[in-house]
Amino acid sequence: MSISPSIDGKQKKNGLQSFGQLSAIFEEKFKKRHFPDEPQQLYDASQYLLTAGGKRIRPVMCLMANEMFDELKEDAYEVATAIELFHNFTLVHDDIMDRAPLRRGMPTVHTKFGEPTALLAGDVMLIAAYENLNKISNEYLHRILSLFNSTAKKVCEGQQLDMEFEKMEHVNFDTYVKMISLKTSVLLAASLQMGAILGGAGAGNQGHLYEFGKNLGIAFQVQDDYLDAFGNPEKFGKKQGGDIMANKKTFLWLQAMEVSSDQQKGELRGLSSRVDDNKIEEVLSIYKSCNIDGWAKELKQKYFSIAMVHLEEIAVTSVRKKPLEELAKYLMERDM
Ligand code: IPE
Ligand code: IPE
Ligand code: MG
Ligand code: MG
Ligand code: MG
Repeated sequence: MSISPSIDGKQKKNGLQSFGQLSAIFEEKFKKRHFPDEPQQLYDASQYLLTAGGKRIRPVMCLMANEMFDELKEDAYEVATAIELFHNFTLVHDDIMDRAPLRRGMPTVHTKFGEPTALLAGDVMLIAAYENLNKISNEYLHRILSLFNSTAKKVCEGQQLDMEFEKMEHVNFDTYVKMISLKTSVLLAASLQMGAILGGAGAGNQGHLYEFGKNLGIAFQVQDDYLDAFGNPEKFGKKQGGDIMANKKTFLWLQAMEVSSDQQKGELRGLSSRVDDNKIEEVLSIYKSCNIDGWAKELKQKYFSIAMVHLEEIAVTSVRKKPLEELAKYLMERDM
């Protein structure tokens, strides 16, 4: 799959593969049906989201991190598959929690198959993730499983905070960053660390890759929050303003509550209890008056820069860092 011409390309001279190349290899392995035939509704619901696409950034980051230190191992594909299955499981449950009608340009799993089936479809994706992990060699199994489990718990913690914040009017910025780190960043970070473990990296390099992923993940979620409000839904594949409708405490909300006029703040408070479609338009117009674009850029840049410092600290030659550096740059500007 080619997600961006700038990071897609021919085999690099140094032998490391680009995001485009690794994602094509991963996609080839991943595109099979991952579930049995029956009960058909259950397993079709699980397969439905996997077939709908996605950028596959987490599994490819795992492969890239392996390749940064050593030749790609067969185990890395199993771990990458487990990561993508886990990610898709979180999306199915997330869309129920967020009452989201669209994902990847298609009706969400619960919209198409109903909530009870969607819950189970997510559950079996999680179990399928563990089945893939269970295939890796004993040499790595314990370390990978420990990291996978601690990460999965953090994602649940972040998701819980995300929902609790819907009911709160005020959330401070540090708490927002903590929430998005848990729900989003730790999985990017762990995907890299798992690849690094399989590549034989030492603890110091693993730690820097983890921090690179964690800070990149914060910037990634900032961009996701931005696109939810201001992206092109045709490309982004989700309902525009879904976060506004659900009263999510995104950085856009936090910033607007910080810098808008008292009258606008009052309007934003009042809009929280509304459920009509005009709510989105009205909140968007207040956001637009608050220099949200500039703030988004600044915020992304801040975490991107911290991420790049950690990438620099990794003790391999700089050519080995190029694919991740290119991916990181693309993720900052992505529109899907
Ligand atoms: C969506 O992740 C969920 C977030 C953490 C923002 P992606 O933007 O990676 O979704 P897909 O897999 O490409 O659809
Ligand atoms: C997603 O956050 C985090 C997880 C799925 C764990 P969002 O709720 O912002 O993700 P999207 O925008 O629905 O993809
Ligand atoms: Mg969501
Ligand atoms: Mg959510
Ligand atoms: Mg979102």
